[in-house]
Amino acid sequence: MSARAWPALPWALTLLLALGLRSPEARAHRVTEGDFREGYFEQLLDHFNFERFGNKTFLQRFLVSERFWKRGTGPTFFYTGNEGNVWSFANNSGFIQELAAQQEALVIFAEHSTRPGHTELLTVEQALADFARLLSALRRDLGAQDSPAIAFGGSYGGMLSAYMRIKYPHLVAGALAASAPVVAVAGLGDSYQFFRDVSADFEGQSPKCAQGVRDAFRQIQDLFLRGAYDTVSREFGTCQPLSGPEDLTQLFGFARNAFTVLAMMDYPYPTDFIGHLPANPVKVGCDRLLSENQRVKGLRALAGLVYNSSGTAPCYDIYLQYQACADPTGCGSGPDARAWDYQACTEINLTFSSNNVTDLFPDLPFTEAHRRKYCLDTWGVWPRRDWLQISFGGDDLKAASNILFSNGDLDPWAGGGIRRNLSTSVLAITIRGGAHHLDLRASRPEDPASVREAREFEARLVREWVEAARRTQ
Ligand SMILES: *[C@@H]1O[C@H](CO)[C@@H](O)[C@H](O)[C@H]1NC(C)=O
Ligand SMILES: *[C@@H]1O[C@H](CO)[C@@H](O)[C@H](O)[C@H]1NC(C)=O
Ligand SMILES: *[C@@H]1O[C@H](CO)[C@@H](O)[C@H](O)[C@H]1NC(C)=O
Ligand SMILES: *[C@@H]1O[C@H](CO)[C@@H](O)[C@H](O)[C@H]1NC(C)=O
Ligand SMILES: *[C@@H]1O[C@H](CO)[C@@H](O)[C@H](O)[C@H]1NC(C)=O
Ligand SMILES: *[C@@H]1O[C@H](CO)[C@@H](O)[C@H](O)[C@H]1NC(C)=O
Repeated sequence: MSARAWPALPWALTLLLALGLRSPEARAHRVTEGDFREGYFEQLLDHFNFERFGNKTFLQRFLVSERFWKRGTGPTFFYTGNEGNVWSFANNSGFIQELAAQQEALVIFAEHSTRPGHTELLTVEQALADFARLLSALRRDLGAQDSPAIAFGGSYGGMLSAYMRIKYPHLVAGALAASAPVVAVAGLGDSYQFFRDVSADFEGQSPKCAQGVRDAFRQIQDLFLRGAYDTVSREFGTCQPLSGPEDLTQLFGFARNAFTVLAMMDYPYPTDFIGHLPANPVKVGCDRLLSENQRVKGLRALAGLVYNSSGTAPCYDIYLQYQACADPTGCGSGPDARAWDYQACTEINLTFSSNNVTDLFPDLPFTEAHRRKYCLDTWGVWPRRDWLQISFGGDDLKAASNILFSNGDLDPWAGGGIRRNLSTSVLAITIRGGAHHLDLRASRPEDPASVREAREFEARLVREWVEAARRTQ
């Protein structure tokens, strides 16, 4: 599900690009590397077994910012890290620092451990226990015991922030869960929802674009059926020659993934979060697709936004640049990607399929049977039906409290999340014109009004949770 580390533009350059555009307040509060101090915490390897690993520990990374903290009165904002480098999330969640500036908060970003060498210990429950122990220790060490903590997170990190409030309500007084697909991952979603909503973004851009996408995939399919593999390879620009159904499936998966990334990252300004993308990448992708006379070449140009952002890739290595895994929305590559694959093979259900009927993409099923086979072959594990739902409640969260689920209507993950208010304190808001956790990003002049309003609502709610926690201290 996304923020897999891709090399980023030098931060200084990003700042320079942004400086001229920022309002004076935003400029004053922008995140800089110097905001955060990096620390390591001696964390228990296994929280749930007293014998096997005894006291064995590893070093868990975290980031701390005391830049805005008013000791004694300021709250603690605790980001529950995702499947990847914690810096990547700190760098892309500037809103939390803006809010810390307003509310004089201590800010902590905790990294999610992948338990290298002990992948069998990698579970959501261990990750939450890591966060709980880390937060408790930091509160003690920094003298923040009386500072109410609020959990923050986006995407998988958003799921974790909600779960953190559910499992450890004595440690966090509330949670902002941005773009958190808690319903889908518990196996309660609709398998076709994700790629239908990716498609909707391209249809919303223009019907002509959507038709162009369909045509490109159909032409590739037809060329393959005729055995014209070399034509596809040449026009699409693959590094290796193509042949047979396996290559076709891989090529389709590779191409479909570009649409997933563009839809998730459809921000109104350039970003370096997943890859280096221009402002409004869905529009730019459609422009590229339609500017070529041949649709297959157009698809190649669109895919280049994701796979050739440097403009130096002579060809696409479709097996290396996209690796099929237990998450059909993409795992990325490298150790973090493998860890995420394991999570998608155990607790986290991401059986999303495209079908060329309710979406623009070829029929690429990833069913429960596919997942089971893949996970047994790859990891020797059986996914556990229902466990995540039993452990955290799935969509039945009305007994919880102080959680805000925010979702953007451009984000294909939104349809797998909580979209309505479940109680007076488990709330949901929709950000019109918002892509994947846009609200957590730093304020920008290009932001739609809806995200400004969402951030104001979030700021109010966080303040209320903190005040309520103080009253009952
Ligand atoms: C985060 O930003 C810092 C600069 O503030 C930069 O040095 C670092 O490479 C960035 N890290 C990631 C993973 O984006
Ligand atoms: C576990 O930690 C305790 C307390 O720090 C220590 O006394 C004990 O020796 C440790 N045991 C092992 C097996 O490391
Ligand atoms: C990558 O971009 C460069 C520059 O635009 C282009 O020459 C090259 O053909 C692109 N690679 C692919 C595989 O399309
Ligand atoms: C999608 O379905 C249409 C018929 O509705 C078919 O003509 C086309 O070949 C299909 N595309 C692919 C890639 O299978
Ligand atoms: C995964 O989710 C799908 C619906 O998206 C559901 O049909 C399936 O039973 C779920 N599997 C597990 C193991 O929960
Ligand atoms: C949930 O309630 C809040 C007010 O408490 C409101 O602003 C918001 O629009 C509601 N959400 C939905 C999806 O109706």
